[in-house]
Order: sequence, then structure tokens, then C-alpha cells
Amino acid sequence: MSNKQPHPVASEHITLTARNVSFAWQDTPLHWVPGDPLATHTINVLHLLLPAGERWFVHVYKQVLPLIRDERLRADVVGFIGQEAMHSQAHDEVLPHLKELGLDPTPYTAQVDWFFEKLLGDRTLPPGRARRWWLLERVALIAAIEHYTAFLGDWVLNAGELDRRGADPTMLDLLRWHGAEEVEHRSVAFDLFQHLDGGYRRRVRTWATAFTAIVFLWQRGARFFMANDPTLTDGRARFRDFHRAGRHGTLPAIGDMLRSIPRYLSRDYHPSQEGSTAQAVAYLASSPAALAAEHAENGAR
Ligand SMILES: [Fe+2]
Ligand SMILES: [Fe+2]
Repeated sequence: MSNKQPHPVASEHITLTARNVSFAWQDTPLHWVPGDPLATHTINVLHLLLPAGERWFVHVYKQVLPLIRDERLRADVVGFIGQEAMHSQAHDEVLPHLKELGLDPTPYTAQVDWFFEKLLGDRTLPPGRARRWWLLERVALIAAIEHYTAFLGDWVLNAGELDRRGADPTMLDLLRWHGAEEVEHRSVAFDLFQHLDGGYRRRVRTWATAFTAIVFLWQRGARFFMANDPTLTDGRARFRDFHRAGRHGTLPAIGDMLRSIPRYLSRDYHPSQEGSTAQAVAYLASSPAALAAEHAENGAR
């Protein structure tokens, strides 16, 4: 095989199932990484971005299903849709709890909703471009975003520092259940993009767009939470604070994030080369929320 083609690692593929999890938030404190509002709120940005973002993935993929000419990929995409719909809902359910703790996320989520539903919606056709072009562009954008959701999933599964700091177990389970499913389905968006188009220029272009949007929305979300945290008098989020948290292991290290860029842009990249399906499956076999969902499903049969 040429080294300029994606190299999937076959043993990393797994049949995808959505787990119907639920979480009880009443005992989760505002600063669920104790004494570390910056790490708490930087990770909390997931609850702002993912409900609308993952609903948008599902919306786009439902339009793409009729274009898929490969049965295994179609099954993967259906499994992906089921998992992402559940992720979106689970993160959405954290928001009322944050509001009860005095941190109303509505002003920010309204902007994120606009971003995904209007700016990246079906009607936003760049001038002179066909509907199909815009659909393929969004499929490629999702592949680029999924490079980062898999990166974050792998990070949180291995973020032992959060345990050592006494992070709230319910929040950690939400993040690791989600992270593990991101690792499980990390190849689906890329495989779909390769199947429908796979153009290298499109991969680079949409990576640049996705990366810029993620950095912009994430730092804005972290600043929003820090500025509106009712317990902080000087709630700022500075670049050096992110950098320090990355060095301490309470957030992903900036160097690791930067090193992941050339990997995605490499012509022989395939998501199955990164992360470990076995580790994800092992976490899901012990996740309190995933186990409760499994017992509830078995009981209903
Ligand atoms: Fe997800
Ligand atoms: Fe995902």
C-alpha cells in the first residue's frame, strides 16, 4: 500500500451502540474540579457547544444517508447518529444545573445555536455553490471536528490528574462515557468524508475552518463562564492559565493539541491510528451511567 493513502487499523473498528444514559446533577458543585474554576469552566464549554453541535452533526448526516453506497459504513453512520444524539442530550441536561448554581448559560448558547443552525444550516449556500457542494463541505467539517472530539475523548480517559484533584465523579463519568464513545466512533466521520469525496484540498480547507471556529468558540465560552461565575471577583481566562493547566494535566496540553494538527493533515492519516478502542470499551464496561443504562435496558426486555 502506498504511504500516501489512509491506513486504517482494522482491529480498532467496533459495532456502535448508543447507551441511554442519564446523570443526577444535584450533588455536583459549581467548581467540580475542586479549587480550579479555570479547568472546570474550560471543560464546561463542552456543555455549551455540544448540544447544538452534535444536533447539527445528526441533522447533516440524516441528509447524507441516502448517498452512502457501502453497507458497513451506513451501519457505522447510523450508530454514530444514535451516539451523538445521546451526547447532545446529556450535555444539554447539565445546563439547568449550572443555572441553578447562578451561572446562566443562555446568552452564550443562543449564539452557538445561531452558529450551527443558521451559519452552518442548509440555506447557507455560498454564492455559486450547489447544494451538494455545501453538504460535502459540512461532511468534511464534521470529520475535522471529530479529529478533536477523539483527541479530547482520549485525553479525558487518561486524565488521571482530574481524579487526583478529586473531580466530581458524576461529571467525570459524563465526560468519560462521552469520551469513550468518541474514541469508539472516531473513524466514522473521516470514513464518510473519504467515501463521499475525500479531496485533500477540502480536508485542509475545512480543517482550517473547524480549528479556527473551535479555538474562537472555546476561548470565548471559557471567558464567558469565568466572567459570569458568581463566586469569582476577577474571573478572567488568560492564555498562560490554559497553558499552565495543560502542563499540570487538568486540561489538554497545548503542545499535544498543536502536534495533532500535522497528523490530521498527513495524507496517510486515519483516525484508527490514534486512541484505543480497547481502552474505550473497558471504560464503558465500568462506567456507572453506562452500566445503569445497560441494566435498565435488560430489565425492559
Ligand atoms: Fe459526541
Ligand atoms: Fe463524535
